[in-house]
Amino acid sequence: MTPMLEAKGLVRRYAMRRGLMGRSVEVRAVDGVSLSVERGRTLGLVGESGCGKSTTGRLVLGLEAPDAGSVAFQDKPMPPPGTDAWRALRSRMQMVFQDPLGALDRRLPIGAQVQEPLDIHRIGEAKDRAGRAMEALRAVGLRPDQAARYPHELSGGQRQRAVLARALATEPALLVCDEPISALDVSIQAQVMNLLMDQQERLGLGILFISHDLRAVRQVSHRVAVMYLGTIVEEGEPDAVLHEPAHPYAQALVSAIPHPGRSGQRIVLQGDPPNPADRPSGCAFHPRCPVATALCARETPVLKPRRGDGRLVACHVVQGDVAPAVTRKAA
Ligand SMILES: Nc1ncnc2c1ncn2[C@@H]1O[C@H](COP(=O)(O)OP(=O)(O)OP(=O)(O)O)[C@@H](O)[C@H]1O
Ligand SMILES: [Mg+2]
Repeated sequence: MTPMLEAKGLVRRYAMRRGLMGRSVEVRAVDGVSLSVERGRTLGLVGESGCGKSTTGRLVLGLEAPDAGSVAFQDKPMPPPGTDAWRALRSRMQMVFQDPLGALDRRLPIGAQVQEPLDIHRIGEAKDRAGRAMEALRAVGLRPDQAARYPHELSGGQRQRAVLARALATEPALLVCDEPISALDVSIQAQVMNLLMDQQERLGLGILFISHDLRAVRQVSHRVAVMYLGTIVEEGEPDAVLHEPAHPYAQALVSAIPHPGRSGQRIVLQGDPPNPADRPSGCAFHPRCPVATALCARETPVLKPRRGDGRLVACHVVQGDVAPAVTRKAA
C-alpha cells in the first residue's frame, strides 16, 4: 500500500541577513528530508529548536514550495501552492500551526473561524455548519459561549484549541500538528491527545506530529523521526527510538528527558548549538558528537537501515563504517 503522504529529498533554503547591515547568507532549513505518513498512522518529528521541523511541515502540505524534492499526496504530486488544484485539496490537509495567534484572524470570533472552512469547501448542509463548528469547539474543550470571543480574548491554550477545532472540523485526511499541545495544561493536553487519536481511529487520519515533548510523541506516534540541522538522523518505532536511541544525537536528546527512577547519565552535548548558516562538513553533528571520527568530518552519512533491526540511522559509527573515537567524558 502506498502511503497517503510521501515526501522525497525535500530541500528548503532561506536567505538570512547577518547583522543589521550584513550581507545575506543562505540557510538550508531543510536539507534532503524524505518521509511518509500512512493512513491512520502518526509520524512523530522531534529535534531541537531551529532544526527545520516547522519548515518540513509547511513543505509537506505545499504551503511553501521546496527548492528541491517532491511531495505526493494520495498518490498524486502536490499541486503548486496557491493554484486552484492546491486549494481544492486544502480541506483534506490541515495544519495546526505552532503560533495560534498568527494562524487566527483577529477580526473574527472563533466560532465563525471554525465554520469558515466548512463554508469555503461547502462541507455538509449549510444549515448544519454552525452546529458542526460548535461541536468541533466542544470536542477540544471550549464552551459554546466562547465561540463569540475574538482570538485576543482567549488564553494561549484556548487559542491553540480553537486552531485545532478549525483543523479537525473539515474532517481532513492528513493533519500536520506543529507543537499542538505545548501551550496547554496537562489535563487539556490529555484531552487533545485523546481527541486526535479518536479522530484517527474514526476517519483514518494520517498525522505528522511535531513536538518537543518526547513523551507525548511516544504516546501518539507509530513511527518517530529525529531531525538534526535539516536532516533526519534516525527513524523507527517510537519505543525503540525513544528508549534505545542509536544515533549519538538521538541519545543526547532522549537522555535530556527527566525520568523519575531512571538511572543512566544525562548526556550534555559538547560545542555550540548548530547554526544552519554555518553547517559543519560531513556529518553536521560531528563537532558535538562524543564518538566522531575523521571520517565523520569528511563524509555525510546516509540514512539507511541498520544491520540487524532495520532501524534507519545516518551515522558512520552506528553503521560500523568506522570504529568510534575514544568517548569524551559525558558530563
Ligand atoms: N521564513 C524564513 N526566513 C528565513 N529563515 C527561516 C524562515 N523560516 C525558518 N527559517 C530558519 O530555518 C531554520 C529552521 O526553522 P524551523 O522554524 O523550521 O525550525 P523548528 O525546528 O520548527 O524550530 P522550533 O522548534 O523552534 O519551532 C531556522 O534556522 C530558522 O531561523
Ligand atoms: Mg517550529
